[in-house]
Amino acid sequence: MLTTVALTPADFERWAEHLTRQIAESGRDGRPFFSPLAAVDFESPERRARFENRLSIPLPQPTWMRAWVVEGPDARFIAHLDLNGSSIPSERHRATLGIGVEAGFYRKGIGRMLMLEAIEFARHNHIEWIDLSVFGDNHAAIGLYRSLGFEEAGRRYDRFRISGRSVDDITMTLRIKT
Ligand SMILES: CC(C)(COP(=O)(O)OP(=O)(O)OC[C@H]1O[C@@H](n2cnc3c(N)ncnc32)[C@H](O)[C@@H]1OP(=O)(O)O)[C@@H](O)C(=O)NCCC(=O)NCCS
Repeated sequence: MLTTVALTPADFERWAEHLTRQIAESGRDGRPFFSPLAAVDFESPERRARFENRLSIPLPQPTWMRAWVVEGPDARFIAHLDLNGSSIPSERHRATLGIGVEAGFYRKGIGRMLMLEAIEFARHNHIEWIDLSVFGDNHAAIGLYRSLGFEEAGRRYDRFRISGRSVDDITMTLRIKT
């Protein structure tokens, strides 16, 4: 059975490998774009140091990060969700969410399982709002977020131009009920 595991600073390599595979799927094989970047450079020592540092920052101190992953049968990570605290202290009651499942594992309930884990974490850690950004034609993700109570808070038309395509960026937000 697939379960979620809290990410630790020691997981950097598997995290980077999973994200590299997952981001490469954006816009491929009929899938919608879901990343503004074609790839992320995980080689820089600064990125690794930032990753390790942010996972250790206690809440609600600015720039904290927590993440959960799902391990595939061969111990590779196949899905992730990250929750991020703002760098601005006056925003400490909010967190920003990112999520990705590798395409071979879509539609098995993994996305929903990760989202429920994050919402539960927020509830126990005095986070009152979860915010996220999603591209306008990412119907799978929008469906998932709506089903959990996220509401559209705004849309930036034509925010990105990716491979010659104009992409709207929607902000969605969830009020955490205590
Ligand atoms: C969006 C994403 C996280 C969903 O993960 P998943 O594990 O496939 O989703 P689940 O199996 O948990 O499905 C949960 C709900 O999401 C919605 N959903 C998922 N895939 C869908 C699809 N292809 N079409 C429509 N709705 C879909 C449904 O509401 C579904 O509930 P249901 O199965 O009861 O109908 C996954 O498609 C993904 O990682 N996509 C690429 C990366 C991405 O878009 N990240 C989000 C960027 S904002």
